[in-house]
Amino acid sequence: MQHVQLERLLSEMTMDEKIGQLLQISGDFYSTTAQERTGPMSQLGLTEREIANAGSVLGVGGAAECRRIQTEYMARHRLHIPTLFMGDVIHGYRTIFPIPLGLASSWDVDAAAQMARISARESAVSGLFLTFSPMVDLVRDPRWGRVMESTGEDPRLNAEFARAMVRGYQGGDLRNDVERVAACVKHFAAYGAPVGGRDYNTVDMSERELRDMYLPGYRAAIEAGAKTVMTSFNTVNGMPASGNKHLLRDILRKEWGFDGALISDYEAVRELVTNGVAQDDEQAAKLAIEAGVDIEMMSVCYLRHLRDLVESGRVDCAIVDEAVMRVLELKNDLGLFENPLRGADEGRERSVVLSDEHRAAARDIAGECVVLLKNGAGILPLHADVPASIALAGPCATSHDLLGAWSWQGRQKETVSLAEGLLARHPHAVTVARESCDYDDPSPAAIAEAVDMARSASVVVLALGETSDMSGEAASRSDIRLPHGQIDMLRAVRAVNPNVVVVLFNGRPLDLTEVDREARAIVEAWFPGTEAGRAVADVLVGATNPSGKLTMSFPRTVGQVPVYYNSCSTGRPYEAKPREKYVSKYLDVANDPLYPFGFGLSYSTFSYGPVTVSGAEFDDRHPLRVDVSIANTSDVDGVEIAQLYVRDLVGDAVRPVKELKGFSRVRIAAGSSVTVTFSLTPDDVRYVHPDLAFTSDPGEFDIMVGPDSRHLSSPIRVVLKS
Ligand code: BGC
Repeated sequence: MQHVQLERLLSEMTMDEKIGQLLQISGDFYSTTAQERTGPMSQLGLTEREIANAGSVLGVGGAAECRRIQTEYMARHRLHIPTLFMGDVIHGYRTIFPIPLGLASSWDVDAAAQMARISARESAVSGLFLTFSPMVDLVRDPRWGRVMESTGEDPRLNAEFARAMVRGYQGGDLRNDVERVAACVKHFAAYGAPVGGRDYNTVDMSERELRDMYLPGYRAAIEAGAKTVMTSFNTVNGMPASGNKHLLRDILRKEWGFDGALISDYEAVRELVTNGVAQDDEQAAKLAIEAGVDIEMMSVCYLRHLRDLVESGRVDCAIVDEAVMRVLELKNDLGLFENPLRGADEGRERSVVLSDEHRAAARDIAGECVVLLKNGAGILPLHADVPASIALAGPCATSHDLLGAWSWQGRQKETVSLAEGLLARHPHAVTVARESCDYDDPSPAAIAEAVDMARSASVVVLALGETSDMSGEAASRSDIRLPHGQIDMLRAVRAVNPNVVVVLFNGRPLDLTEVDREARAIVEAWFPGTEAGRAVADVLVGATNPSGKLTMSFPRTVGQVPVYYNSCSTGRPYEAKPREKYVSKYLDVANDPLYPFGFGLSYSTFSYGPVTVSGAEFDDRHPLRVDVSIANTSDVDGVEIAQLYVRDLVGDAVRPVKELKGFSRVRIAAGSSVTVTFSLTPDDVRYVHPDLAFTSDPGEFDIMVGPDSRHLSSPIRVVLKS
């Protein structure tokens, strides 16, 4: 449709029809069984007419169901306006990929784009038009369960992943490419910084910090063309995001020029009342619509009150029209007026969803995401030449709970367990524990069996971790160690066999201090998705050489949290002299994390040569070229992720001690070397100044290169000319 046709359509709509477009309700309301519908209907007090007028649907998947709902309800709508199916496809639809925090550990943005491309294809043939992804909340607190959905603690990396995912979901021609879906970047804004890591809690930070660290990810997604934005549950500097005019109108709309649709998070408009910034639902509706929220998800403040608010002149009708127009435009951008069923196709659904090709991609990508945290005495990869030499035990050994918390359509029964993966590789060398083993409290029998197996095996693989519901939404933890029972099991096994390889399946950085003490090797596998067991077995046996590196620091203890690599200089930096006092440090633990940002080992060994820079000065016309030669000094081909960090020595605001400004994922054949080249421009070192100007500071900078944020070359001083 042309814009004029949309305007005509808008002019033909009644106020109720307009408000209907601003309502999103869940799939239950469209169920064919009265029993499933009556509960939700009475809860929200919806009538059949209101359901027929609702503009979008949350969480329905399946081509047949989406086709049925679209056909039936378009016919019931007076103007036959199609509905819009939205859902949470966060790291895969039915073929599940690693959780985003795992995906980010690949530092492979093309892999993220491929994940999004495949997710889009599976979603689209199953009837979805839009996914609530990417989630780009910057995170520094692993107590917060939703760190699993994020790509980590670095704004630059987050922005790169955000762009790649939007590209993968939407492609270049959303209207005609019916196997793509619209993206929705969330949760705007700063949802990743709740006080104490407790979900839904207050967020309060300076405007400078917000803009410098937290906003770049959302902005990158919008610049990449993300069609929609979702507000967050939290308050931002005193006002919940869904009523926050400054965030939504001033920054998002005016400054960034975002003209797509803005949707609230689940019931977040209604929560303006529980937050205590609105007296009742009516005031909540007024706050949200005036702040710029177009679609209200799963609460009915707009539905019940917008009409009165407009008729009494308390809300300008133009604001409502503007919101409705954005929804119509979104539908039009998806081509729904011409093709209301889009890609929904039961035949294609059968062949595309969970296809061998998609599973193969999930396996490869999951392999790239594994982070080898420790490999004492080169115990990995496993040698499997001796029968029954490898014992596999622990709560995650045979578990299929490996998809992660956001795998709505994923099925555990389609997921490969570690036992299945390892046995397929080495049927004779691997023995698997038979006792059922609880995550919280492995029974004495399970521990005794593991100890028994450990006595006769050369290596014990202990698969430990969290269940998927221990991370994700509403799953904050104050103690981020493994459950005590698992540590007991590890200790008992270690007491009889020192060759313990711990494989971890979990959704957040954990405090691994005790595990690090006991285990010879540690493999961080995250929640790897459908192909979990195969991908992790590939790594354990050396068919895949691990290359993943952390994008979020692993603390030594929860008491250090938040601990992140790009912290600011203090006036009293700690120089690691034991009895030094009156410096910024803890009395009882080191300042740095156990495993730092950017860290991860490989079966190859890499050696970094001297770093060279193209000059002592740089400016807009003369970017700096930074070269480093990296040698693979082992006899195994491998992939290294080289990282460039910069420190701005004197700024208008206090600057981080280091900031990631470039990275390169390079394959280096055994025994050979490659030269990695980075470029640094004045744009790369811009930041938000105290007056909120986004500029750079002329003057001195230190350049450092290395395999992670801790092991860096000695700084090379350069000058940015004014
Ligand atoms: C979550 C969102 C999600 C929405 C819809 C909310 O509870 O915070 O991330 O997209 O539900 O399922």
